Amino acid sequence: MLKSKRRWLQERKRDPYFILSKKEGYRSRASYKLKQILDEYKLIRTGDIVLDIGCAPGGWLQVASEAVGETGLVIGVDVKKVENLGLENTKTIVLNVFDEGFVEKVLKESKSRFDAILSDLSPNMSGIYELDHARQIEMVERVIQLSKYLLKIGGSMVIKVFEGEGSDRVYKRVSRLFRFVKRVKPKASRKGSSEFYLVAKFFKGF
Ligand SMILES: C[S@@+](CC[C@H](N)C(=O)[O-])C[C@H]1O[C@@H](n2cnc3c(N)ncnc32)[C@H](O)[C@@H]1O
Repeated sequence: MLKSKRRWLQERKRDPYFILSKKEGYRSRASYKLKQILDEYKLIRTGDIVLDIGCAPGGWLQVASEAVGETGLVIGVDVKKVENLGLENTKTIVLNVFDEGFVEKVLKESKSRFDAILSDLSPNMSGIYELDHARQIEMVERVIQLSKYLLKIGGSMVIKVFEGEGSDRVYKRVSRLFRFVKRVKPKASRKGSSEFYLVAKFFKGF
């Protein structure tokens, strides 16, 4: 095994959110980032219909499923298949966010626009920061574009953004579309990582 991989595995074993996710039965430590955002910003209510883009392995899906309750619905989309979560209010679709038929395929499952769109999308990392950043910002811009067709007026959004050249541009774009926008770094997000989340409420439409 590569030294760097061994070190990563050792660090992960000591990571409090990794330990907690195992104990509490969440699919990923990322669950706690969404939990912290939802606790503070109250974006999701019982009965809501929520779209989670880039949902595998399913940690955010579990948190969103709890937040919408039995009367709500969560649709998760990822290029990777999500192993069955056993949640009655949750459906998953294997789909690329750049697929031309994305909107139709998702609406076919939800039968309705969404109260909230969540995106934790990350590209496969090349290790070249400029390239990874550009790819991730392209995903963020795609999610913003999709909100035009998928989000209800008054709806909310949480989008992961990699800090860098394009992050101010996407912040400004989201600010024009929502009445409330905030850059958030939840406690569970690793200090050294360049990610932050845009939390947006009260969608005005395009
Ligand atoms: C950080 S992970 C998401 C973790 C998830 N929020 C959780 O809590 O389990 C990012 C996901 O984005 C997905 N992804 C990357 N490119 C994608 C694309 N073009 N379309 C759909 N999903 C994509 C990856 O497959 C990966 O599962």
